[in-house]
Amino acid sequence: MATVTIQTGSAQPLRVRDALEMPGDDRAPVQGRSSRSDAYPIHVTRTLPEALLRLNDLIGDARVGLITDSAVESLHGRALLEGLDDLGIRPDVAVVPSGEVHKSLDEAVRLWHWLAAGPLGRRDVLLAFGGGVVIDMGGWVAAGYMRGMRYINLPTTLVGQVDAGIGGKLAVNHGEAKNLIGGFHQPTGVVSNVSYLETLDVRHIRAGLAETIKKALIASPDYWTFIEARAEAILAKDLEALEQLVAAAGAIKATLIERDPYEYDSRRTLGFGHALAHPLETITGYGPIIHGEAVALGMVVECRMAAARGLLAQDTLERVIALLARVGLPTCAAELPAAVDGDALIAATEKVRLARGGHLRWVLPAALGDTLIVDDVTDRELRAALRACGIDVRRQLS
Ligand SMILES: NC(=O)c1ccc[n+]([C@@H]2O[C@H](COP(=O)([O-])OP(=O)(O)OC[C@H]3O[C@@H](n4cnc5c(N)ncnc54)[C@H](O)[C@@H]3O)[C@@H](O)[C@H]2O)c1
Ligand SMILES: [Zn+2]
Repeated sequence: MATVTIQTGSAQPLRVRDALEMPGDDRAPVQGRSSRSDAYPIHVTRTLPEALLRLNDLIGDARVGLITDSAVESLHGRALLEGLDDLGIRPDVAVVPSGEVHKSLDEAVRLWHWLAAGPLGRRDVLLAFGGGVVIDMGGWVAAGYMRGMRYINLPTTLVGQVDAGIGGKLAVNHGEAKNLIGGFHQPTGVVSNVSYLETLDVRHIRAGLAETIKKALIASPDYWTFIEARAEAILAKDLEALEQLVAAAGAIKATLIERDPYEYDSRRTLGFGHALAHPLETITGYGPIIHGEAVALGMVVECRMAAARGLLAQDTLERVIALLARVGLPTCAAELPAAVDGDALIAATEKVRLARGGHLRWVLPAALGDTLIVDDVTDRELRAALRACGIDVRRQLS
């Protein structure tokens, strides 16, 4: 057996002693192995000074590159930079244009050029300061730069705080499909400061609620009860209610991810509503229907398919639709902010299915906290559910 001795010491050079043996003659296949356990804190704060304290701990003495979008920069950039400056942290800043359409390979490449031209190294840290767009793209840029540099999420939208900021699932969009180019890379830490949500419009609060209702339905009847009880306070941006909402979302998502970090099986429930939401965003050009709205409709479609199979009780279906409607999320085509071409939607869904080797996974709920992941949904079932949501899909695919 080989022995490996690694001696480390702050003042001493790193010494590595190896005596690896040649493999035997049997030519047995070598098994590549890698295992790693990532752990990171998810902090929820109510004020910028508290958030800055958390950031200071996470950053340590690393250099910082800050990625944000134009809207967040003009609303909150200055206060953050001043607060960091007081701590002796002076980041290099990159600003991307605001909006889903800019979660793109082109913007990611621009960010890599910016990094390459600057002083940041692998041990330094990127700070993703913005909504899900900045987080998904900033994290992915961090993952790809120098084979993976550290990044911290400072989400400023409800979607970012309850979902995108946690779990290290990163990507940019492509004209062919949403999130087509991406990977997994966990953050060094997450600081969700709910006071950032005070400047967020109610449409984006609703969009964030869609991702919390998703978590409640797949994993936590308790969380469902909380959302039902506090929906109005959340929409009114009551900071205490938001803090509870965000903290619980972090705890629930962290538990689901720990079980299945790379989405081999059980984590797939987090994709509830997304098998349809992503094609819906793609065919409408990444903009008119925002992510949370698309997820809301996608959840209704999956619930309808589950009810049609006799899996989900009719009254639970109605309860889901009622809660989504109560918080102002779309539950049928007429409530979507853009017209949807049903045939284009089915074609885009089919494209995703083919790109995934013929299997498109659907998450069908059976009850609160009880879901089935299936890949045998037929074209007929999908069309029936879409029609029940008022989406016109009469023509068959050629
Ligand atoms: N990786 C994941 O696990 C995961 C989970 C959920 C969503 N997502 C992704 O997140 C994206 C959607 O995120 P989003 O809804 O945050 O979108 P977003 O990042 O586009 O933010 C929405 C809008 O709000 C603005 N904004 C951000 N913070 C603000 C603030 N505090 N006040 C006022 N305006 C503010 C932004 O400039 C933008 O115009 C989608 O691409 C989705 O796929 C990823
Ligand atoms: Zn989502």
